[in-house]
Amino acid sequence: MSVPVLSAQNIGKSYGSGTNRFNALKGVSLEIRAGESVAIVGKSGSGKSTLMHLLALLDDPDTGTLLVEGTDARTLKGTEVNRLRNQDFGFVFQQFFLTANATVLDNVVLPLKIAGVPPRERKARGMAALEQLELADKAKNKAITLSGGQKQRAVIARALVNNPKVIFADEPTGNLDTATGAVVEDILFALNKDKGITLIIVTHDIELAARCDRQIFIRDGREDTTESGAPRKRHAGAHAGAHA
Ligand SMILES: Nc1ncnc2c1ncn2[C@@H]1O[C@H](COP(=O)(O)OP(=O)(O)OP(=O)(O)O)[C@@H](O)[C@H]1O
Ligand SMILES: [Mg+2]
Repeated sequence: MSVPVLSAQNIGKSYGSGTNRFNALKGVSLEIRAGESVAIVGKSGSGKSTLMHLLALLDDPDTGTLLVEGTDARTLKGTEVNRLRNQDFGFVFQQFFLTANATVLDNVVLPLKIAGVPPRERKARGMAALEQLELADKAKNKAITLSGGQKQRAVIARALVNNPKVIFADEPTGNLDTATGAVVEDILFALNKDKGITLIIVTHDIELAARCDRQIFIRDGREDTTESGAPRKRHAGAHAGAHA
């Protein structure tokens, strides 16, 4: 069986220090395989975003080990971590806002710019991503002029412009109306199905979680195994290794 894309072994994270120290994640172990869609669910404050940040190498765990395709993340050089974040990972996070006064296209091609892709190719790939999200006509608009759903689609365009292996989405439909949320959801699952992009989605939305191959429940900084893992997919996927 292939090496998991991500493997967390007992990872933990505390915030603050002294009496303010808060143990947000108390040792979580999980494996994410290529092509899977996995929902991370749990109450507000349970540690979902914290876990997501650790998995996405945006923050370092205090305890435990994170393996990225079998390699201990601690042994990765800074340049390699940046490359992974920039080229292998795509982010759909509400806190990663678009730059308000930059154009939609400039926002979307930012990861390509960071990766050193030349301007002409950046533009072509950026426009292709915007076309996929049906936003090509807004390419030259300032990001601030987009509607909420359009912003969310622009964020997805930016997340996929580099052809990532994994998309991390934190409440991707959280601020959207049902219809727009459904569009965004469909786009994410189409990327998973058609391009084999691994999806890791934090969500409060039970139906969105159920649409994923697998659900990981987090309660008070720990995995709640009484609920986790039950296959609740609407239709059976062909993902090897998802079930024993
Ligand atoms: N930078 C920080 N400093 C101090 N405490 C923090 C910090 N970030 C998160 N926490 C605390 O860690 C706990 C877990 O936070 P986290 O953001 O992971 O929760 P969550 O499950 O994503 O919640 P939500 O569903 O509301 O987004 C919370 O109690 C939160 O207050
Ligand atoms: Mg959160």
